[in-house]
Amino acid sequence: MVTKRGGAVAIYPGSFDPITNGHLDLIDRGAKLFDRLIVAILRNESKEPLFSVEERTEMLREVAASYPNVDVDSFHGLLVDYAADKGASVIIRGIRAMSDYEYELQMALMNRRLAPGIETVFLMASEDYSFISSRLVKEVISLGGDISGLVPPLVEVRLRNRVSRGI
Ligand code: PNS
Repeated sequence: MVTKRGGAVAIYPGSFDPITNGHLDLIDRGAKLFDRLIVAILRNESKEPLFSVEERTEMLREVAASYPNVDVDSFHGLLVDYAADKGASVIIRGIRAMSDYEYELQMALMNRRLAPGIETVFLMASEDYSFISSRLVKEVISLGGDISGLVPPLVEVRLRNRVSRGI
């Protein structure tokens, strides 16, 4: 357990478009490890998300409601600036497979260079979720495939509504 004066704050950043059961697994693990976990959605105008930041915030808040030490927020600009602003000393990221490693290593080392006091901690999602990504979930549902068990039920409902409206 990481402890610090005032409690260790960790940031779990991402696009979460939409949240999957893999993300939820990471939130569960992070909430147990840190005193406070802030799930932070990147506001990125250059990406074309399926769900708005407000919709993603709403979904994340609902699925994380049972964790008293988890907050949901959004940010723009540099992640390390946001983390410093929140008093966070840790960034958590999930690693599913070796293919994630290179990108994650680059980000972690860049963030370390920008802010040496902030540590990136990698958590392994359960093997049950290691193949799930938001991108694949969107592709599968848009082509009529079954996504039950891959995303929280409330996310599945929202995705179905989008698909029936032609996404
Ligand atoms: O879920 P994602 O899309 O893989 O998350 C990527 C994210 C949001 C963690 C990353 O793009 C990010 O931190 N963006 C903020 C901008 C930044 O700080 N860039 C320099 C860090 S390498």
